[in-house]
Amino acid sequence: MQIRQALATDRDAIYDICVRTADFGNDGRHLYEDHELPGHMWAGAYLALEPRLAFVVADDEGVAGYVIGALDTMDFERRLESDWWPALRDCYPNPTGIARDLRSRDQQIHRSMHRPVLTPPEFIGEHPSHLHIDLLPRAQGRGVGTAMMTTLLNALRALDSPGVHLGVSPSNERAVAFYKHLKFTTLAEFGEHGLLMGLRL
Ligand SMILES: CC(C)(COP(=O)(O)OP(=O)(O)OC[C@H]1O[C@@H](n2cnc3c(N)ncnc32)[C@H](O)[C@@H]1OP(=O)(O)O)[C@@H](O)C(=O)NCCC(=O)NCCS
Repeated sequence: MQIRQALATDRDAIYDICVRTADFGNDGRHLYEDHELPGHMWAGAYLALEPRLAFVVADDEGVAGYVIGALDTMDFERRLESDWWPALRDCYPNPTGIARDLRSRDQQIHRSMHRPVLTPPEFIGEHPSHLHIDLLPRAQGRGVGTAMMTTLLNALRALDSPGVHLGVSPSNERAVAFYKHLKFTTLAEFGEHGLLMGLRL
């Protein structure tokens, strides 16, 4: 398996991996009618807006995973607002009028495109960068994740980032164990909704 900088041509593979890991790290294709939505929500913007911090791992079968990040989360969220969400808002209507607990998973993402949840500055603190990592099953459990994280963390260090954070569901026990193994510590807990973890660089 080879780790390399992600290219614009990796977009479809990255979107595919995003939905195939969207159910707490497992295949989430049954959750979404539109399989592009998780990619729009959690992956595409990094490739488009922060390509220097987007890496993929590939083997003979093709791209098997990605790690993507943003150097400055607050600046990235501002750029999402100006350069990423507007085109998606034109394509996907805001599901106003549908009660929150009646919204489908697709509609929950449509809603988030129109009303994105911003990272509270108090949680960013000394960890202004953030990242996401997802590998297909064939790449998991053999050290590839660690190598991918090392690549991204080194790229962040080279850009003088003082620290990085990430969000993970406590139900994704494998991912939580993986981040702890990499010396990430818990910055904040939001019950079943998620765990914010961070690492000083
Ligand atoms: C989570 C993920 C990135 C880990 O990458 P990986 O390549 O599988 O992990 P590695 O092989 O590098 O494992 C490194 C260490 O993490 C921990 N770890 C990894 N998988 C684990 C598991 N299933 N249970 C417990 N600990 C685990 C171990 O400490 C392991 O060290 P060891 O192999 O010496 O025991 C990868 O499995 C993945 O992409 N999963 C699906 C998508 C996902 O959940 N992404 C995270 C969303 S927040």
